[in-house]
Amino acid sequence: MRFDTPAGLNPIDQQRVIGKPITRVDGPLKVSGAAPYAYERHDVVPNQAYGFILGAAIAKGRVEHIDVAKARTAPGVIGVVTTLDMPPLQQGEHNIATLFGGPDIVHYHQAIAIVVAETFEQARAAAHLIVVDYARSPGSFDLQSASASAKVTPDKGNHGPDAPPVIKGGDFAAAFRDAPVKLDRTYTTPVHSHSPMEPHASIAAWDGDKLTIWTSSQMIGWWHPDVARALSLQPEQLRLDSPFIGGGFGSKLYMRCDAVLAALAAKAVKRPVKVAQARTFMFNNSTHRAATIQHIQLGAKRDGTLVAISHTSTSGNLPKATPEPAAAQTALLYAAANRAVTLRLATLDLPEAADMRAPGEAPGLMALEMAMDELAEQLGMDPVELRIRNDTQVDPIDPSRPFSQRHLIECLRTGAERFGWARRNPKPGQVRDGEWLIGMGVASGFRNNLIQPSAARITLEPSGAITVETSMTDIGTGSYTIIAQTAAEMLGVDVQDVTVKLGDSRFPKASGSGGQWGANSATSGVYAAAMALRRSIAERLQINPDQAQFAGGNVTDGTHSAALRTAAKDGPIIAEDGMEYGDLAKKYQQSTFAAHFCEAAVNAYTGEMRIRRLLAVCDAGRILNAKTAHSQVIGGMTMGVGAALMEELAVEKRFGLFINHDLAGYEVPVHADIPDLDVVFLDYPDDKSSPMKAKGVGELGLCGVGAAVANAVYNATGVRIRDYPITLDKHLAHLPAIA
Ligand code: MOS
Repeated sequence: MRFDTPAGLNPIDQQRVIGKPITRVDGPLKVSGAAPYAYERHDVVPNQAYGFILGAAIAKGRVEHIDVAKARTAPGVIGVVTTLDMPPLQQGEHNIATLFGGPDIVHYHQAIAIVVAETFEQARAAAHLIVVDYARSPGSFDLQSASASAKVTPDKGNHGPDAPPVIKGGDFAAAFRDAPVKLDRTYTTPVHSHSPMEPHASIAAWDGDKLTIWTSSQMIGWWHPDVARALSLQPEQLRLDSPFIGGGFGSKLYMRCDAVLAALAAKAVKRPVKVAQARTFMFNNSTHRAATIQHIQLGAKRDGTLVAISHTSTSGNLPKATPEPAAAQTALLYAAANRAVTLRLATLDLPEAADMRAPGEAPGLMALEMAMDELAEQLGMDPVELRIRNDTQVDPIDPSRPFSQRHLIECLRTGAERFGWARRNPKPGQVRDGEWLIGMGVASGFRNNLIQPSAARITLEPSGAITVETSMTDIGTGSYTIIAQTAAEMLGVDVQDVTVKLGDSRFPKASGSGGQWGANSATSGVYAAAMALRRSIAERLQINPDQAQFAGGNVTDGTHSAALRTAAKDGPIIAEDGMEYGDLAKKYQQSTFAAHFCEAAVNAYTGEMRIRRLLAVCDAGRILNAKTAHSQVIGGMTMGVGAALMEELAVEKRFGLFINHDLAGYEVPVHADIPDLDVVFLDYPDDKSSPMKAKGVGELGLCGVGAAVANAVYNATGVRIRDYPITLDKHLAHLPAIA
C-alpha cells in the first residue's frame, strides 16, 4: 500500500481500541519471567556452550601476537578464536569500527578473542589467561584539542546524501552584527552511554550451512543483511530472532560483536554458543552518544523577535563516521530570517559514536534551550513568551513547506497554566523553602517525525484466532500492544483475540525500533496488511468489500452479516502487505513538539539538587495508546534528568578509554531521584503522517528536558553552568550567601 495523499476517514478513526490506555499485552510474560531475553533462550537449541569476549587493552595500534596456549588447556575450555585467525570481517552498512578480525585496533575494548567453555566462569577465567602483545600507536582522545582541526561535515543523516555543508537562510553575519540584542555562548555536553538493562547478547547455532542467531536487536531489517555480509552468508542462510529486548536506546540499532562472535565460535567448536557482553565491556565496545561543543549566537529585536540564529556543534568520531547532529533542530524550531546551522567533525580514536535516543536533539536542545533562557533573561522577557513570540508554522528556510501540524504554542500555554508558571520568580536565587533554593525552568521539546516502510502478515484461522507477524521489535516500548490494538481496530475484534509475533527475520520486514519511528511505522504496516485481509474476508463472505463493516467479531455490509471466523471455515486466510511512502514528508515538515517544565530544589548548604516536579505537554499526532505513550515519555523525562545532572562517560585522555565503564561510576537516576511525573498529550491526529495519523513520541519525552532542568537549577541559584552535567561541584562555590 502506498501513502502519498493525506489520510481520509478510515477504520482507525473509530478509536474503539486505538488510543485507549490498554495495559501491555506482554506484561504478564514480563513480570512472570516468561518473556525470555536473548541470553535466556535455554530451550531454543540444546548443548549451548558459553563464550566470553576479550577486549583490546589499547585504544589504537596493532595486535602483534596472541598466546592462547594457557587458555586452551584451562578447565572446561572447548575452543578459542582470536582476531589474528581471520581477516577483518566484511563491513555492513551500519558499522564503522571493525567488529572482529585482523590485527588493527581502532578503539579500546575492540573484541580480539572469544573463549568457549562448558560454563561461563570457565570461559571468563580462561580469557584472562590469554597473553597479548600489542604495538601501541598514539591517538587523539580529547575533543577540546581535536576540535581545532574539526571539519565542517554535512548532516547526511537528517538531510540525505546531498546535504549542504551549512544549512543557511538569509545572511546570518549581517543580521547578527546589526541585532540590538545579542547572545553568544558556548555549551558542552559529555559522552553518554545507552547502557540498556539487558546487555548485548546472542546465541548462535549452525545447522549445516544455515545459521540461527537469537539476539537482542532493535532493527532486524538493518541487522540481517549486515550479519549475513560479515559472515559471508547468503541472506537465506541466516535467521535472526529477537522477540523480547531489555532496552536499546539506539545501542542495538546496528549489529554488535556478540552476534558475529557467537556465530564464529559456534562454527569453530561445532556447538551452539551463547555470548553476552559483560557490563564493563559494553561501555567501550559498543557505541555511545558523542560529546559536543556547541557555539550558539542569537540576535534579537528588543521585543524578543529573533532575527539571527547560528548554531555550530562540534563532535568527534572515528574516521569515516558521522557527527552528532546536535544543531539539526535549530534549522526548524524558531522563526528568524537569517540563520546558519553547522556540524563539525573531529577525528577521535575513541570507540565509535553513534545514535543514542533522540540523536541530535537530545544534546542539541540542552544547549539551544539554555541559550533561549539566557536570551529571555537578557531581554527581561518571560521565557515562555519568548518561545511563543518566535513560533513558526513553516520551515523558516523554505517557507513554501508548512509543518504538517505544529502546536508548540498550545504546549507552552497549556503547560504554563497547569504547572503554575505564573508563580515563578524571574529573578534567580530568590525563592527559599527552608534550606532549599527553589527554581522553575522551561524548555521547548522538538524532534522530527521520521517514517520507515514496514510490512506485516495477518492470518485469520478457522477458529477465529488472528495472528500478526512482523519483524518489528519491542524494546520495552509497547509494540506488541499497539500492534494488537491496530489489528483489533481494523478487524472489529478485541485485543485479546489477536496474537502478535515479533522480531523474527522470517516475518515480513518491518521498520524496527529507532528514531521514534517504530510505533507509527509498524502499525501502518499492520494497517496495510489488515486492509488486504479485510478484502479477502469480504470476498470469501461475498460481502461488498467497499461497504464492509468489521465490528463485534462480525462483518456486515448492511444487508448481509456473518461472523468473521466463518470466512476462514475452509482454511486460514493469510494477507501480507506493507506501507510505503510518497513525498508528503517533503511537502510538509513533519515534527513533534513539547513543552517541558521543571521545578528544582538546590540545597543552599551542600549544592545538591533535587527534582521536585516535571511536566511534559506533548504534540505528537494521534496517541495510539495513552498508557504506553505515557510510559515512553516519563522514561524519556527520567533520561533527561540524568543528562542534566548525572550522566557523563569520562574520557581517560592518556590511554583513550571511557574510564567509568560500569553502572557504579556512570550515574543514572534511580527511583529516589524522580518524583511523580506529569504528562499531557494534545492528541491531534496528523493526516499527513500515515493512515494511523500518529507520530513518534518516545524520543520527544527526552528532547528539551535537560535544558528545562538546567534552567530551573539556574532560576534556583543564579549560577549558570554551561557545562553538562550540572554537578554540585560546579556551582557550590557560587551559591547565594547562606546568612
Ligand atoms: Mo534510537 S537512537 O534511533 O534507538
